[in-house]
Amino acid sequence: MSKHKLYVHSARQIVQVVSDGKRVRNGAEMKTLDVLEDLNNEQAGYSILVSRDGCIVDIGLDSDVRRRNPDVTADDVIDASGKSIIPGLVDAHTHPVWAGDRVHEFAMKLAGATYMDVHKAGGGIHYTVDHTQKASGQELFSSLRSRLEAMRRAGSTLVECKSGYGLDLETEMKMLEVIDRARHELSIGVSSTYCGAHAVPKNKTAEEATNDILDQHIPEIHRRVEDGTLRVDNIDVFCERGVFNVDQSRLILTAGKALGMNVNFHGDELHPTGSAEMGAELGALAISHLEEISDKGIDAMSTAGSVGVVLPTTAYILRLRPPPVRNMIDAGMAVALGSDFNPNAYCLAMPMVMHLACVLLHISMPEALNAATINAAHALGVSDMHGSLEVGKYGNLVILDSDKWENLIYMFGCFQDVIQHVVYKGNIVHSRN
Ligand code: NIG
Ligand code: FE
Repeated sequence: MSKHKLYVHSARQIVQVVSDGKRVRNGAEMKTLDVLEDLNNEQAGYSILVSRDGCIVDIGLDSDVRRRNPDVTADDVIDASGKSIIPGLVDAHTHPVWAGDRVHEFAMKLAGATYMDVHKAGGGIHYTVDHTQKASGQELFSSLRSRLEAMRRAGSTLVECKSGYGLDLETEMKMLEVIDRARHELSIGVSSTYCGAHAVPKNKTAEEATNDILDQHIPEIHRRVEDGTLRVDNIDVFCERGVFNVDQSRLILTAGKALGMNVNFHGDELHPTGSAEMGAELGALAISHLEEISDKGIDAMSTAGSVGVVLPTTAYILRLRPPPVRNMIDAGMAVALGSDFNPNAYCLAMPMVMHLACVLLHISMPEALNAATINAAHALGVSDMHGSLEVGKYGNLVILDSDKWENLIYMFGCFQDVIQHVVYKGNIVHSRN
């Protein structure tokens, strides 16, 4: 058996993102990317060595890595001449477990209906809930698997996955079980989020739904976590006018936090509700959307160190005013990116999300890559192992058939042509052709 799992050498450029153990890039730091490349000598190449446990054991100039590992052998050896390497991308916000697509609603929205018009008419999340309640766990797992595989082909090696199309206890647990199964069976990182407060069930008030969550759902999750049959990393709510208000959201998030879940929720999306201020007060690890965040909310999140997870696909598809990302970064906030993959916004590819972020949210390509790697990993509480190429972290990488990593963002929608290999924990899990 060879000593290592993977040896990649001769790369033109290795974008480590972070090289000094930093777990998050805040505000102006997001401009910085740590890159290994020899701008003067075209001959120099760079290597990464991944051990049998799936972690990076060495990284640097080809000659240095060879000197430090004179007897290097590996199951897979990749000659990356002329290519660049970035960390596996991290998708910090997705809703990938559901049945019942909403292509018909896309047509309605193109004809002028707003997101809330459709939702209040019983469509939107409710439409997907009806179909997801009827679907078997196996059906949900099969579609989740193909979605996660598509995300992985687009470079994602860690994906946050929410429940939230069940709403009733039974279906929410079915969704969480499906997400847990994906974590165990698929070669991709999964961060699991309970989002039972994604919409108010049709036959209930928000207050009744809040009580069900507090009295039944969260205790049931607790039982399963305690007996080792379930893992849930994050707690989420849709804190929005006409869905769960700030007080109801606070109660649910606090109950999840007490069980050790990361507070990571939808806030200030369609209306300014003070979600950011409330989340900062709870010490939220992350808050998503924030299209309507107030200046006070920005300051509060910056002080609390809560990550702003921005989702350019939502603003794009719903033609919303995009979140004020420049103000967030200027105020020192850490910003992360997510695809928000869901039946409203059907996008599985983080390279497209980064492109949209650059154009619609006015961020630079280095800021977008920090947001889609180290900061997204931090939003999920796992930037100790994900989000950068450093010794000791998982060997999750994307090898690009280009000597400049920026082509992954620039070539909008052509990520299939740029991504040569995707590697998860040292295993090559996708190769072009
Ligand atoms: O993040 N805003 C709430 N949740 C999702 C949309 C879910 C849906 O429409 O099915 C979001 O965009
Ligand atoms: Fe969402």
